[in-house]
Amino acid sequence: MTQIQDVRQFSPAAERNREPILQVLRRHLPAAGLVLEIASGTGQHVAHFAASLPELEWQPSDLSTDLHPSIRAWVEDAGLANVRTPLQLDVTADAWPVEQAEAIVCINMIHISPWAATEGLLRGAARLLPQGGVLYLYGPYKRGGQHTAPSNADFDASLKARNPEWGVRNLEDVESLAGTHGFEPVKVVEMPANNLSVVFRRA
Ligand SMILES: C[S@@+](CC[C@H](N)C(=O)[O-])C[C@H]1O[C@@H](n2cnc3c(N)ncnc32)[C@H](O)[C@@H]1O
Repeated sequence: MTQIQDVRQFSPAAERNREPILQVLRRHLPAAGLVLEIASGTGQHVAHFAASLPELEWQPSDLSTDLHPSIRAWVEDAGLANVRTPLQLDVTADAWPVEQAEAIVCINMIHISPWAATEGLLRGAARLLPQGGVLYLYGPYKRGGQHTAPSNADFDASLKARNPEWGVRNLEDVESLAGTHGFEPVKVVEMPANNLSVVFRRA
């Protein structure tokens, strides 16, 4: 008898935040077209969003190809026809393996990567998105240089202990960098567990 191994990786945080994030995406994503997800991780998010927003086509991606089997497995398990095969995409690369997309979603990458990754994300998003295209970011941020909760300060310290180049970013720094790449702020939404949804539009 052949036993099918479940390669789906599970993130409890993704399970908790997928629905609140979906509620924000519903308000800001276009009605149809391709959405590129950067740093898809386990694939739980893209499977949930694609099942809930079937008019959109989804392109998952992650720098780490080790995660691609998990992404594929979540998508296959949900029986989704509107999700493409995951791509290896490094935001810092000068060329991304995607030719067009109407929107980009990037959840929990900016603080768990060097600042160069945020720079690459905004540079690449500006190359890819059409005028009016939405860039959605989610994660913890400082505001005005201050942590918004003691738990975020602790998290920041733990990130920096793992890698000195990681860390909770200042929202204003991300907004300012986004502005230099032609993105205008649309909305900042306070989310559970002291996270923010940050929505930009390509001007
Ligand atoms: C904390 S995980 C978040 C995964 C998922 N979005 C979630 O919220 O569960 C951070 C992800 O960022 C990805 N990542 C880190 N550096 C990257 C880069 N330069 N380009 C693309 N993805 C990157 C990692 O491979 C990892 O999957």
